[in-house]
Amino acid sequence: MSRASLLKQEMGLGPAWHPRQGWFEHHPATLQPWQSADTAVADDDAAEDKPEAAASQTAIAPPQPSLAAAPSTADLPPSAIATPASPIPRVETRIELPRQDWPQLEREVSNCQRCRLCETRTQTVFGRGNPQARWMLIGEAPGENEDKQGLPFVGRAGQLLDNMLAATGLDRDRDVYIANVLKCRPPGNRNPAPDEIAACNGYLLQQIRHIQPALIVALGRFAAQTLLETEDAIGRLRGKVHHYQGVPLVVSYHPAYLLRNQPDKAKAWQDLLLARKVYKQAGR
Ligand code: URA
Repeated sequence: MSRASLLKQEMGLGPAWHPRQGWFEHHPATLQPWQSADTAVADDDAAEDKPEAAASQTAIAPPQPSLAAAPSTADLPPSAIATPASPIPRVETRIELPRQDWPQLEREVSNCQRCRLCETRTQTVFGRGNPQARWMLIGEAPGENEDKQGLPFVGRAGQLLDNMLAATGLDRDRDVYIANVLKCRPPGNRNPAPDEIAACNGYLLQQIRHIQPALIVALGRFAAQTLLETEDAIGRLRGKVHHYQGVPLVVSYHPAYLLRNQPDKAKAWQDLLLARKVYKQAGR
């Protein structure tokens, strides 16, 4: 089977989703994601979970030209630009770290004892990818595999994520930086607690400040709700351009959720197309 077919199979996509010359601009799937019929609130929030089952290896598509532009949302239709979500005081950021250089920040995170998760973690999971990348992907928290390896998204969900990135023309090591809201694994992969988020929030802010991404993709309900300080369902949050710390932010499903809900891979693909479109609005 060809690499493209393997990729397609992994993503659960039909033949019409083959990347091809001009595919991004002209493929029906790219038609105004925000105008899709799928505007209803998805009932999938409760279904989002974090399975990390055995992985099936799939080839990674060759890297595409590097992306290096600052996006603008000026050309997107107003319906695609989210008005700020009504702020819900979910977490108070308790730490205001002084600006640190990257290795210093990594060291600080690896020695962190700001919350109870330090007692149960194997190691911290700082992030992975290119700290100079223009795209930043933010997940929830390390799972079992990530806790063991010290890297985010290394399990089966990570493989799916890598394949989706590759299909979007992004190389996971060169074009993106991937981090989580929490740097330590919550025991049993339970949901992060508000005080744990508060304890960790400063680290993510520092990472964003260093990377200065042109675009943030929030992966899953938890990351989206935390970053946007809202309790809106993911079905309401995706398909729009939000902002976090002034950076355009697009919401998509968590890859682990997609492993269990194959039909929603098509929606996740639309999200990536929207993200790419926002990025391309910069004209580079
Ligand atoms: N899920 C996440 O949100 N992050 C990881 O790093 C792994 C699984």
